[in-house]
Amino acid sequence: MAREIGMWLYSNGGGDKIQKKIVKKLKERDIETVTDINLRHAVAKNGHILHDKLKIDELDLFFSYNAGEQTQYQVFLYQALNRVMPMINTYDAFALTEDKFQTSFLLRQHGVATPSFKLCHRDDGHELKKIIKKWDKMVYKPTDGWGGVGLTKIESEATLDTLLPFLNQMDLRFFYVEKFVKYDNTDFRVDIVDGEFVGCYGRKASGTDWRTNVTSGGSVFMREPNDDIINLAKKAAKVCGTDIAGVDIIYDLEREEYVVLEVNGIPAFATPEQEKMGLNFNDKKIDLIVDLIDRKTKK
Ligand SMILES: Nc1ncnc2c1ncn2[C@@H]1O[C@H](COP(=O)(O)OP(=O)(O)O)[C@@H](O)[C@H]1O
Ligand SMILES: [Mg+2]
Repeated sequence: MAREIGMWLYSNGGGDKIQKKIVKKLKERDIETVTDINLRHAVAKNGHILHDKLKIDELDLFFSYNAGEQTQYQVFLYQALNRVMPMINTYDAFALTEDKFQTSFLLRQHGVATPSFKLCHRDDGHELKKIIKKWDKMVYKPTDGWGGVGLTKIESEATLDTLLPFLNQMDLRFFYVEKFVKYDNTDFRVDIVDGEFVGCYGRKASGTDWRTNVTSGGSVFMREPNDDIINLAKKAAKVCGTDIAGVDIIYDLEREEYVVLEVNGIPAFATPEQEKMGLNFNDKKIDLIVDLIDRKTKK
């Protein structure tokens, strides 16, 4: 019987064209694709998860590559499907990379450099006072955020004192903080698929903001990685178990080494504008994904 997979890929920023290419290349290998399977519109009924009349669980694989920000419902079904079929990324890798603390903890356990961090219970504000004395500057991070949203730079004990009452008012379970890394306000985004290096670009903070995210005013530029950067990204992707990963790396000027800021499980393909700039890794990325799907669905 012919193989058939399900897919949910973002359509903005050129995603629609990428999807067409993937579907065509899979077809050349006799793999059919059902697209636009948004778990938001699925229902679980007894032993099956249905999207319209399609039993998603009977497909040979599910490729989920849309908003990282999924609702609890979508994530709940992602987890259930992962128990019965191959998924890219696996649920475990997806859930891990959605959380900055869980990711940093695991990376550090495996000897991958990250900024120094500390997690403490919301009632242990005194831990933050202790650590700011030691670190001088730190960054408060929501562990499940993206796009630089909610990150707060804490520059002194005085800033912390002003901030703590606000943090206490919010319904947080814990505080996650990182030492503020001295760096040149640029980063490397390194894409890895199936353990292989796909491509790299840089982002530069705007000058008025310390964050490199495009949503925080950062701009993308062409940037070649060195071997240290590529190997660090490969190791981070491996430790996280991500078939597809976009690893964010900066150079720590004090420690004089590269550190991993985060691992993104749904790194965007180059947009049409970025392709015009010369970012040309999309075809390689598509080929590696098609190879991976082919291998994971071999009967
Ligand atoms: N510990 C840190 N020290 C200095 N800058 C940081 C630190 N952590 C994050 N940043 C800056 O903030 C940006 C966003 O942080 P990141 O952890 O990648 O969160 P997000 O998921 O919001 O992108 C980074 O690209 C970097 O420019
Ligand atoms: Mg980031």
